[in-house]
Amino acid sequence: MTGTTDTTDTGPAPAPAPARPEPALRGQVVVLIGGSSGIGLETAHRARGEGAEVVLTGRNPDRLKRAADAVGARQTAAFDATDAAALKQFFGDLPGPIDHVMVTAGGPHYGPLLTMDSAQLRDSLSGHVELGLEVARNALGKMRPTGTLIFMGDAGSRRVAPGIGIASAVSAVMPPFVAALALEIAPARVNAIAPGFVDTPLSASVLADRLDARRAELSAQLPIGRVVTPGDVAALAVHLMANTALTGVTYDIDGGQQLVS
Ligand SMILES: NC(=O)c1ccc[n+]([C@@H]2O[C@H](COP(=O)([O-])OP(=O)(O)OC[C@H]3O[C@@H](n4cnc5c(N)ncnc54)[C@H](OP(=O)(O)O)[C@@H]3O)[C@@H](O)[C@H]2O)c1
Repeated sequence: MTGTTDTTDTGPAPAPAPARPEPALRGQVVVLIGGSSGIGLETAHRARGEGAEVVLTGRNPDRLKRAADAVGARQTAAFDATDAAALKQFFGDLPGPIDHVMVTAGGPHYGPLLTMDSAQLRDSLSGHVELGLEVARNALGKMRPTGTLIFMGDAGSRRVAPGIGIASAVSAVMPPFVAALALEIAPARVNAIAPGFVDTPLSASVLADRLDARRAELSAQLPIGRVVTPGDVAALAVHLMANTALTGVTYDIDGGQQLVS
């Protein structure tokens, strides 16, 4: 009796294509307080890429609209985040639930301490710590239990130096502030990101015609051989949103700047 056996050698079966990783923020809502420029805008782009819907705020409505169009934001609101009543109204009107709120509004304040009046001192502190607390107070009721708050610190001002003034004090306050708040808001989480120099419109406006020289200096000096970009910081921010083990910590991201300056 004869039979047929297929002896064609087709070689080993091809390896299955690697599964695409699940988008880290699929179905989640990320609110960027200060989302129309720099680190906030880049985080919005990255969060969208990871499947999130984004809500952007900022003061300048034209810049906000351009940013919202660029990322496909679900909603925008133009207001000054340091205005407590406006912030409260924004969160009150915001449809919930939301997942993550990142605060990149509130710039650094430089200059010698003795030249500051008390209003300037209050502005410097309210730009980060008070704003963070007001955001926490207003956002928590709308956040899912796995949500995160992310605030901005400043590793560049950690070293006390002439002319930096209050920025060093504000920078020192952020880590214990975030740690203490993490205990109060659990199981929601809160972390801070403390950059050194990041190549954003803010850095361009602070440094003005010294920007190119500073970029070149840092590229030569930093262990990473380049300056830190908004995309670097956005990647860290999205990781802090997605990794539910992280709370109460301030993460430096400065390309090793503190090691060499
Ligand atoms: N870039 C750096 O090297 C660096 C280093 C250390 C820390 N940081 C901190 O990181 C954060 C983001 O910096 P960035 O470089 O991304 O700045 P940026 O490019 O100037 O962006 C700041 C964003 O926040 C908004 N904003 C600022 N003040 C606001 C307010 N009072 N109310 C509402 N929105 C406000 C701005 O829009 P409008 O102006 O239209 O309001 C913009 O969307 C800041 O807190 C900064 O101090 C930056």
